[in-house]
Amino acid sequence: MNIGILGSGHIAMAIAGHATGAGYPVMISRRGDPESLAPNVATLGPSARAGSFQNAAEFGDIVFIAVVWDAVPAVTAQIPTWDDKIVVDPTNPLRAENGGITVLEYAAATSSEVIADLVPGARLVKGFCTYTAADLAADPQVDGWRRVMMLAGDDNAAKLAVAALTSDMGFAPVDAGTLVEGGGKFQVGGPLRAQLRGF
Ligand SMILES: NC(=O)c1ccc[n+]([C@@H]2O[C@H](COP(=O)([O-])OP(=O)(O)OC[C@H]3O[C@@H](n4cnc5c(N)ncnc54)[C@H](OP(=O)(O)O)[C@@H]3O)[C@@H](O)[C@H]2O)c1
Repeated sequence: MNIGILGSGHIAMAIAGHATGAGYPVMISRRGDPESLAPNVATLGPSARAGSFQNAAEFGDIVFIAVVWDAVPAVTAQIPTWDDKIVVDPTNPLRAENGGITVLEYAAATSSEVIADLVPGARLVKGFCTYTAADLAADPQVDGWRRVMMLAGDDNAAKLAVAALTSDMGFAPVDAGTLVEGGGKFQVGGPLRAQLRGF
C-alpha cells in the first residue's frame, strides 16, 4: 500500500517517517521543484520519493493532506479526481501569525466537513491532528504502551485501512466514530481535544 503525502513540513515528515519505518512506500510533495526535497527524501530512506501535489495524490492508496489550513483549498484543487481515494485529514483550522496561533472560524459544524467539501468523492478519515509535530514524530511506543491515535470517518473500510497503517506505525488506533460526531470530539475546540491540548 502506497502512502501519498500532500506536504513536506513537520507533520508530513513525522507521518512519512513512521510510514517508511513500517515499510510503506511514501511520496512527499511541495510547491515548486520536488528536487528541492532531496534532503527530506534522504532522511526518510530508499522507500521515499518526492513529487508534485498531484503526483503524491496519484501515488497514494492513502493520501494525507498535511499542509497548512489556509493552503488546503488551493492544494486540493490541483488534484483532478478524488473519487474513492482514502484521504486522511490531519489539519487544524489554525494560522500562525503575529508570533501566536489564531483559531480560524469556518461555516460548518466540524473542520472536517470543510475538508470533505474540497475532496469530493474521497473516503475521508480524520486523524493525526491531536499531537504536536514533535510528539507525533516521536516513538509511539512509550514504557511498553502505545500512544493512542483517534480516527473518525463515515466509511468503515477506509477507517480500517487507516487504522491498519496507524497500527503498523506503532500507534494504538481508536475508532472515535463518524466524521462529524467522532471528529467533532477531538478536533480543535472539541471536548476531548480541549483536555488534551487546551484548545
Ligand atoms: N505542527 C503541529 O504541531 C501540528 C499538529 C497537528 C496538526 N497540524 C496540522 O498539520 C498541517 C501541517 O502543519 P505543519 O506543522 O506540518 O506545517 P509546516 O511545517 O509549516 O508545513 C507546511 C506545509 O504546507 C505547505 N504550504 C504552506 N503554504 C502553502 C501554500 N500557500 N500553498 C501550498 N502549500 C503550502 C508547505 O509547502 P511548501 O514546502 O511548498 O512551503 C508545507 O508542505 C496543518 O494543517 C496543521 O494545522 C500541525
